[in-house]
Amino acid sequence: MTSPFDPVQIGPISLSNRFVKSGANEAMSREGVPTKAMVKHHADLAAGGTALTTMAYCAVSKDGRTLPDQIWMREEIIDDLKAVTDAVHANGGKISAQITHAGSFVTSLKVGTTKSSSTGINKAGLMKGNKWQKAMDQSDMERVKKDFAKAALLAEKAGFDGVELHMGHGYLLNQFISPLSNKRKDEFGGTAEKRIRFPVEVLSAVKEAVGERLAVIAKINVSDGVKGGSTPDDAIILAKALEQAGADMLVLSGGRNIESTWFMFGSPINMEQMLKMITSPINRFFFKLSALSVPKGLEFKEMYLREYSLKIRAAVNVPLAYLGGVTSIDNAQKAMDDGFECIAMARALIHDTGLVNKLKSGEVSKSGCTACNKCVAYIYHPGGTWCVENPANDLEINQIPASRKNYNS
Ligand SMILES: Cc1cc2nc3c(=O)[nH]c(=O)nc-3n(C[C@H](O)[C@H](O)[C@H](O)COP(=O)(O)O)c2cc1C
Repeated sequence: MTSPFDPVQIGPISLSNRFVKSGANEAMSREGVPTKAMVKHHADLAAGGTALTTMAYCAVSKDGRTLPDQIWMREEIIDDLKAVTDAVHANGGKISAQITHAGSFVTSLKVGTTKSSSTGINKAGLMKGNKWQKAMDQSDMERVKKDFAKAALLAEKAGFDGVELHMGHGYLLNQFISPLSNKRKDEFGGTAEKRIRFPVEVLSAVKEAVGERLAVIAKINVSDGVKGGSTPDDAIILAKALEQAGADMLVLSGGRNIESTWFMFGSPINMEQMLKMITSPINRFFFKLSALSVPKGLEFKEMYLREYSLKIRAAVNVPLAYLGGVTSIDNAQKAMDDGFECIAMARALIHDTGLVNKLKSGEVSKSGCTACNKCVAYIYHPGGTWCVENPANDLEINQIPASRKNYNS
């Protein structure tokens, strides 16, 4: 029987156990530069026993951000990124960078017309006046492919052990995969095989750039969780193609940021907390509108994506990380028994960065996270994302670039 504490090989890297911190917007970068708070957060996770932590949302280019302070990968921040990876390595952990592009999902920056799989009105962009989206042509696609490969090479230079390509949640690569957004009539739209083509090409480009040295991981949706969106059958076609293209692991997620956030979290966004953090009337309106999609009577269930993820497990041999509502040692063991190689967690590790070691020693058998989702609203807080059950984050260290030397922390 495999234990969640057994080591595992993921492509070229070995992990000391099966626990992965799922990419979760830390809000610990300022003007695209990771801060000391980012260093502390991931160092704490490594010290707490998480084998592979993921630095969330690193845009592959400046126009790939959705929020103004998000990191975009560039030479100028190598030392700051390195401060994060060094701290993780010093504590015995490994770290991957979630590399991504927003496409049309630009909610908090005024950029004008955004690029996506298809031309039309941009729902996400209405919050900031980015009313239109334009279908990417071949040269746009080549540029984005190159940007992903370049970002992966930069991640390698900065000491990351892996990169995770974000293909879920409604960002650019998902805008190709999902029939909700992909209305193309060319060889990149239509059937599932055509809709996944560009994302698979992007992974191949990244694999070619860094695949011998870094773990190349993809985060995919097992379903968009909304009528007209991508289905588990689409996800199987995608997973098989990514396996063929050499992905080292797939992290299984679900839901889209606008249409079905409840599916991503297995419970509704905490509207009361969100409205405290969001001041713009139009953004408040959109959040209220998104609440209408939540199924009546929805209650949080541990391992809420299990049924879907088992379908992917049955279809491929590539290592898979089970994600979604893992809160206890029993859940982690169940994921192992189901045949998943790793267990990814976000909220439970935001609640307690030391959880993995505590599960191992038996100090606790279950996370204290209540899935209240207040942490999701804190991605808009200047102190960075944190769990409301814990003492507040230190505002000061979230203003200081990660590599600043004349600071004793
Ligand atoms: C505060 C917060 C921020 C998140 N930001 C991201 C993100 O930047 N990228 C991403 O892929 N997923 C993001 N997620 C989703 C998580 O990675 C994960 O898919 C989801 O929380 C379900 O896992 P869990 O039940 O272990 O929390 C975020 C989740 C939370 C709670």
